[in-house]
Amino acid sequence: MMIIMTSQIVMESKKDINIDLSKDSRHGAIQILNKRLCDEYILFTKTRNYHWNVVGPNFSERHKFFQEQYEEIDEIIDDVAERVRTLNGRSLGTLAEFIEHGSIQESPGKYPDESTMISNLLADHEQIIRSLRTDADKCEEYHDMGTNDFLIGVMEKHENMAWMLRAHLDKP
Ligand SMILES: [Fe+2]
Repeated sequence: MMIIMTSQIVMESKKDINIDLSKDSRHGAIQILNKRLCDEYILFTKTRNYHWNVVGPNFSERHKFFQEQYEEIDEIIDDVAERVRTLNGRSLGTLAEFIEHGSIQESPGKYPDESTMISNLLADHEQIIRSLRTDADKCEEYHDMGTNDFLIGVMEKHENMAWMLRAHLDKP
């Protein structure tokens, strides 16, 4: 029988931190950040999969476009993981944890056409934007203005990427 280990989403560094945030507030923010880290990692992988597998007359343009997007998500991933560390949390860092705690759906074995790829990614970015909006509000309740501001910045990056995806599907 295979034993599946359930990982903890909130773990702390051993050295104390004294930045006028309660433990509960920090733990709330760490949980939010680790969950978004999982979503970002799955979306990065999904966008990169589409970069590899896109076909059709617009191949060259879409191939490059998806690369620009996964590179931007890659930077967000690093920022989110390091924000967890600034709050003295342990950042999740394994594919098993990303799948366990992430909420972005994958479709193994499916190779959609290019416009379905774009609409799938758009739906994922919009899902992340909705989550981040709620998360930013929660961090304000936690009195964690730093993470509140950080999450708003990440949300704006996703809003920008979502606009670029949406423009591909729009009519003149
Ligand atoms: Fe490539």
